Amino acid sequence: MTVPDITIAIDGYSSTGKSSFAKLLARRFSFQYLDSGAYYRGVTLYAQQNGLISEDNTVSDALEAALADGTLQIVTDGDAIRSMKVSSQVSPIAALPYVRSFVDRRLHSDAASGRVVMDGRDIGTTVFPNAELKLFMVASDEVRARRRYNELLAKGQTPVFEEVLANLRERDYIDSHREASPLTQAPDAFVLDNSSMTLEEELIWVEGLIRGKFGILE
Ligand code: CDP
Repeated sequence: MTVPDITIAIDGYSSTGKSSFAKLLARRFSFQYLDSGAYYRGVTLYAQQNGLISEDNTVSDALEAALADGTLQIVTDGDAIRSMKVSSQVSPIAALPYVRSFVDRRLHSDAASGRVVMDGRDIGTTVFPNAELKLFMVASDEVRARRRYNELLAKGQTPVFEEVLANLRERDYIDSHREASPLTQAPDAFVLDNSSMTLEEELIWVEGLIRGKFGILE
């Protein structure tokens, strides 16, 4: 299917499969993929490695100074940013307005062309409010926790199911209740509940949506 030059914004709760789906769309439609959560995870890893965040989530002012000129190099891929240690502190870090503006600037400069699919919590509401296609992904808590648990196991980590579930719920709560750019469904977003869908079924669903919305006949 030939998809026009649009921006696709995918938002939703933790571990709803946004990244896997966004990567699949990027491959199938030849779009650039940007994982905004990886940037927040990268900032969190940087803060942890430099002793800028304490056990009780107190963040040192030095983090704001380090992010101020926008040139700091952060890790945005690999297993280190996906650990439970990073997951346990990323939401308080992502609630800080100066962290959000650092990441937003990066996302805008890294989005090279109009053919972008980006996933996160506030892409359709704040980062790309004019995105031509917005999706909001949901799935049951148990399904989400099971997926994340299996993902961590496959990476050789030793997750505890109840901890993974509690972490998802805690992050969802913080992400939805913070003042700066909270996780919320954009009014013009299409909801995708993939609790019992395969990735291929999701793809068929979104292709139908794109055909209808942009009048594609093939
Ligand atoms: O993969 P998962 O759904 O667990 O999370 P993620 O997309 O890697 O994002 C990690 C965390 O970054 C989230 O829990 C949010 O606290 C934060 N985040 C955000 O605040 N805004 C975004 N656009 C993306 C992520």
